[in-house]
Amino acid sequence: MEGKRDSWGNNFGFLMAAIGSAVGLGNIWGFPYKMGANGGFAFLIVYLALAVLIGFTVMLGELTIGRKSGKGAVGAYVALSKHFKWVGWLGALSAFLIMSFYSVLGGYCLKYMVLNFGDLINASFGSAGQNGGDIFGALLTNQAESIMYTLFFMIISCAIVMGGIAGGIEKFSKFAMPALFVLLVIVIVRSVTLDGAMDGLAFMFKPNIEPLKKDFLGVLSSASGQMFFSLSLGMAIMITYGSYLPKKENLERNSFIIIFSDTFIAILAGLAVIPAAFALGGEGAALAGPKLLYITLQNVFAAMGSIGPLIGVLFYLLVAIAAITSAISLIETTVTFFMDSAESKGGSGNRKVIAFIVSLIIMAEATLVAADGLGSNGLWVPFQKSFGVHGWNDCWLDFMDVMSEGIMMPLGALLMCLFIGYEYGIKKFGEEITIAGFPFRSEAFFSLCCRYIAPIGLAFVLWGQLKNFGIV
Ligand code: PHE
Repeated sequence: MEGKRDSWGNNFGFLMAAIGSAVGLGNIWGFPYKMGANGGFAFLIVYLALAVLIGFTVMLGELTIGRKSGKGAVGAYVALSKHFKWVGWLGALSAFLIMSFYSVLGGYCLKYMVLNFGDLINASFGSAGQNGGDIFGALLTNQAESIMYTLFFMIISCAIVMGGIAGGIEKFSKFAMPALFVLLVIVIVRSVTLDGAMDGLAFMFKPNIEPLKKDFLGVLSSASGQMFFSLSLGMAIMITYGSYLPKKENLERNSFIIIFSDTFIAILAGLAVIPAAFALGGEGAALAGPKLLYITLQNVFAAMGSIGPLIGVLFYLLVAIAAITSAISLIETTVTFFMDSAESKGGSGNRKVIAFIVSLIIMAEATLVAADGLGSNGLWVPFQKSFGVHGWNDCWLDFMDVMSEGIMMPLGALLMCLFIGYEYGIKKFGEEITIAGFPFRSEAFFSLCCRYIAPIGLAFVLWGQLKNFGIV
């Protein structure tokens, strides 16, 4: 029916899309490298505790607010809150900013996929014997190529969003997520059977809390930033996705499944990456930080011999899929905003036109990040010299990341907890959860986390991030 708000076809489709949003570069790239840099096992334990105590609270909070209001983040807060009407904007804006670099990083994955494919068939667009560092350096300084791959990534993502919630996002995720899982398992099998892989496994799973004793706060703030980003929390996405969910679905169980799956895949990604880095690059490679995905792993595939390019193609394809299912959730957040606005004015928005225009604007900001090449090309950046988040020099990517992931995300989540815990009320919140007759099993736990643990934790995270980014 024309004008009727779109909705998910079924709960499985919703889950695939939500897990697709959560599982992205954050899992496959961020998690292994942050785990590598923060003491392996110790990081894992802290991460798990945070996912249970804060991740679950914010996830359930966002999905419920979305479904209750039937609107994207901006409209949801306007509809439900007196004091927090503007909080939705924070989320929507950070989703928009994240896309500026997410699409560039996704574009790089497409490039590496093509490159490994070139090696596979001995074509001229292969690596020509260059090592990972040279390949990445050349890509960063080749602005036209970087922008082209970003554009390519945006075209794919935009086309999916144009198809709608059930007809585009759900349809793609339902096939892409299981495919991603299969690809991941193939790469893991190769990685853990390499000579020397055992050291990597021990690093991940052998109990060792020494790093916590050395730098507890450092591990905590890195794990919490990672958790937020990885679960797509604090930026309007789960509100948006929740708003398309029918009343008959179980929000509590869905929140649990999304968090469990995202964490599980992050650990699997660790299994795919860390043992291989240990085996073929030595411990130093596994601890290589953000270079891991685009430099170290490329070297690891090159060191695998004749099967290397094939594993490389599969691996970068899987990262690209993960990035696309996340990017579409980020684009959808802004698209939903415009669709809702049109609806509230009594009309109905044209999804295709809106998706196209939103993507065009995102492409404009992404062009800046792509042309900057992580600071390689000397573009002017605001607040230069104040942060080097990823260990690269000051660059547009860092700037966008600090604004969104660093500040708006934890702030948005903190304000959401205050809104639910102190203005809206846990009782009224519970009514939405129990609306189809499911019990609100975690009510006492949720209340404790939402009113006390999460706000305190989040205030701390915010402070830690600001410190990390060199702002305070
Ligand atoms: N969660 C995604 C990841 O792990 C990234 C993302 C962040 C997606 C924010 C949507 C919103 O890569």
